Amino acid sequence: MKFTTFYFSGTGNTRWAVDEFARIIEEKGHQAEQVSIDIQTSLSDEQIRAMVAAADAIGFANPIYGGDIPPIMRAFISRVVGLVGPQKMAKSAYAINTFGYVNAFGPTEMQKLLAGSGLTLTAYVNIQLCNNVTSSKPLDRNQLVKRMARGQKELGRLADSLIAGRKRIKGHGPQLLIGAMIRKKVPEAIAKFYQTLGVDASRCTRCLVCVNNCPTGSISLKGKQFIFSAGCTACMRCYNFCPTGAITIDGVLTDPDKFPRYQGPEL
Ligand SMILES: Cc1cc2nc3c(=O)[nH]c(=O)nc-3n(C[C@H](O)[C@H](O)[C@H](O)COP(=O)(O)O)c2cc1C
Repeated sequence: MKFTTFYFSGTGNTRWAVDEFARIIEEKGHQAEQVSIDIQTSLSDEQIRAMVAAADAIGFANPIYGGDIPPIMRAFISRVVGLVGPQKMAKSAYAINTFGYVNAFGPTEMQKLLAGSGLTLTAYVNIQLCNNVTSSKPLDRNQLVKRMARGQKELGRLADSLIAGRKRIKGHGPQLLIGAMIRKKVPEAIAKFYQTLGVDASRCTRCLVCVNNCPTGSISLKGKQFIFSAGCTACMRCYNFCPTGAITIDGVLTDPDKFPRYQGPEL
């Protein structure tokens, strides 16, 4: 069987989960394909249709933002639904979410997005890893390692269920009430997040890591001025990966020694 996972990962947690899932699938003698939906991948409509047609099951993997699916993934799922819906391809779909503190969006949100696409959500899992939002709290690596081990087991169970054609929907629970509340407020904060971003000229070396790696192509350099624009999905990649820690939030430049940056579980 072939499992194709479309994923978005701002800082590496979700990519780790998707790579682990692929490794497990391949160990079990099946095929796995991982496709980033970053703007740099520039997937054409034809490519997406062909990938969906060639797979036995289609996955969508993303971090949880404010108890919800990040705007970049929402837009991508809607695109897929628009592309494959009219073709009535009946396939099973699965969702892999990563989160830091509280998983607060449930399978229902995903089911709503897939409605009318021919894709039926048969498996839904949440993997707790760590927070990637700026914080003065140092990363607890021991805790992360334990969570990664738990995540591997969960991804193994996901793979077994998909291969056997068994349903495995996790993620129902009281946390969904919290999700329903924050889902009303956070989208607006995410939509305006780009307005809070800036670059400190004294630290910036113009290496353009931020411009070249923004998953939505929302950072540009005009003359001496960095422009952050509305497509920003608030993933924190520019902030976390700037080699000199020059990205400011609300005009504040934070010292990387005091506010450690997060660059994924492998680092
Ligand atoms: C804008 C934003 C909102 C977030 N909201 C939540 C949240 O509601 N609950 C949570 O547990 N983690 C939240 N997180 C943390 C991420 O879900 C978590 O760190 C995730 O594993 C990051 O995945 P990535 O490295 O693939 O981008 C948020 C992160 C960002 C950037």
